[in-house]
Amino acid sequence: MAKKDIDWGNIGFGYIKTDKRFVSNFKDGAWDEGALISDDTVTISECACVLQYAQTIFEGLKAYTTEDGHVVCFRPDLNAKRMADSAERLEMPQFPEDRFVDAIHQVVKANIDFVPPYGSGATLYIRPYMFGSNAVIGVKPAQEYQFRVFCTPVGPYFKGGVKPITIRVSDFDRAAPHGTGHIKAGLNYAMSLHAIVDAHGQGFDENMYLDAATRTKVEETGGANFLFVTKDKKIVTPKSNSILPSITRRSLMTVAKDYLGLEVEEREVFFDEIGDFVECGLCGTAAVISPVGCVNDHGKEIFFENGKDEMGPVITELRETLTGIQMGHIKAPEGWIEVIE
Ligand code: PLP
Ligand code: COI
Repeated sequence: MAKKDIDWGNIGFGYIKTDKRFVSNFKDGAWDEGALISDDTVTISECACVLQYAQTIFEGLKAYTTEDGHVVCFRPDLNAKRMADSAERLEMPQFPEDRFVDAIHQVVKANIDFVPPYGSGATLYIRPYMFGSNAVIGVKPAQEYQFRVFCTPVGPYFKGGVKPITIRVSDFDRAAPHGTGHIKAGLNYAMSLHAIVDAHGQGFDENMYLDAATRTKVEETGGANFLFVTKDKKIVTPKSNSILPSITRRSLMTVAKDYLGLEVEEREVFFDEIGDFVECGLCGTAAVISPVGCVNDHGKEIFFENGKDEMGPVITELRETLTGIQMGHIKAPEGWIEVIE
């Protein structure tokens, strides 16, 4: 076993092809047993449902090298469950949750030399996904599907790592009430591409989406949920049926309550009140928890008092405790860490 010759400390959040990926096909009402393969390309009909009607869902999770040299992944059972929920909403067959977790193990093991070393600042990002693969021309679900898992080493999602970012309030919506914002469907991200290119073009790092119905409540960004900190150190996170139930956010709420003794609250957060918060973070697998220093509302700047130049103290504590759990130097709650053997 020899680690790949990669400059781990300097990679960004990009795709690096690894050796093996897992593939299983669904046909005639059943999944085949699946296999690890070397071919990184996909061959499907020109009329595949995914190509015509975007019938595709995905997940994202990470594997880490711990301080004592194990390779572990973080709560893959929750990704399996969320993918099953996404499949149900898009009329796709569910990939059995135990087989999902097993596929993660297989892929990480088969690409073990791509798992960044402890302390390098990089991690192995794992991308399970599923799509309708047979030809469909009338608008209806496919009958055949492919489930795949690949992985790629990654560095920080936001350039500059943990420097507070500036986001802007988006005039575009990400998700409709009763739509698909709560599942991880490719179509939600297609929706956000124009908004993110436009935001970047204007010098912002991300978009803050508001609720589409009233445009008064904070939802999430294109790839992460929000956490806010009040003056008296309470952690507040938006509650909404049209945001993705982030596994990182749910874990951080537990960390805040059980490890840091902080009060936590999941509730509707009105845009008008965000200036009262003293810190703001974006949480997700890719983002971990990344500090937001400023929200730009059509030229009006709203700063978070304790986190505008550097990551604030509460977000720092949350980040250090969560990554400490993931890297194995803080004891994890039961069932959070899965060792790859
Ligand atoms: N919200 C959106 C829209 C996302 O794409 C992601 C990333 O997966 C998240 C939130 C964070 O979710 P998680 O913490 O499960 O990665
Ligand atoms: C993740 O954090 O896993 C995501 O899927 C976010 C994505 C925008 C990279």
